[in-house]
Amino acid sequence: MSSEDYGYDYDLLFKIVLIGDSGVGKSNLLSRFTKNEFNMDSKSTIGVEFATRTLEIDGKRIKAQIWDTAGQERYRAITSAYYRGAVGALIVYDISKSSSYENCNHWLSELRENADDNVAVGLIGNKSDLAHLRAVPTEESKTFAQENQLLFTETSALNSENVDKAFEELINTIY
Ligand code: GTP
Ligand code: MG
Repeated sequence: MSSEDYGYDYDLLFKIVLIGDSGVGKSNLLSRFTKNEFNMDSKSTIGVEFATRTLEIDGKRIKAQIWDTAGQERYRAITSAYYRGAVGALIVYDISKSSSYENCNHWLSELRENADDNVAVGLIGNKSDLAHLRAVPTEESKTFAQENQLLFTETSALNSENVDKAFEELINTIY
């Protein structure tokens, strides 16, 4: 029996979590990827939200269920529940804010402590449209990503640059 016989609209379901400091653009990356929407003055996420998008790879319909929570501790979801069952994760920082990049170490440790050992991980330098305010050199993040076996992409949720690519590379790695 194929999944169609059960009435599912997909063949595989991948849970992917977004993590990173508050304000780096996690919620806007999610809305850009799943709804092609961007919000210039979005509020901090409270609790957990998620959205889905289905892609086709090798004739298989893959439903990416992407979870998003607050970067700020006091608004965050219960950590263990958030990571449970995740097969992919994107650690997001803001290329114009060095502290958000430095904290990627912390996010990576939290991920490693809570997620499955074989979770696929991507590092995302978001807000690439703010080139004039760049504080994190691309080469530095690239090296960090290589040392930790992470995929790496610079994206802009504002102008859409590389957003699909970042999610699709992660999904391809999981698949
Ligand atoms: P928390 O929910 O608090 O953890 O924050 P977040 O990571 O979800 O950030 P959010 O998506 O709410 O974006 C924070 C601010 O950055 C908003 O004002 C967005 O409009 C802005 N922003 C997000 N992505 C981009 C981007 O690619 N470029 C620019 N210039 N601004 C962006
Ligand atoms: Mg948010």
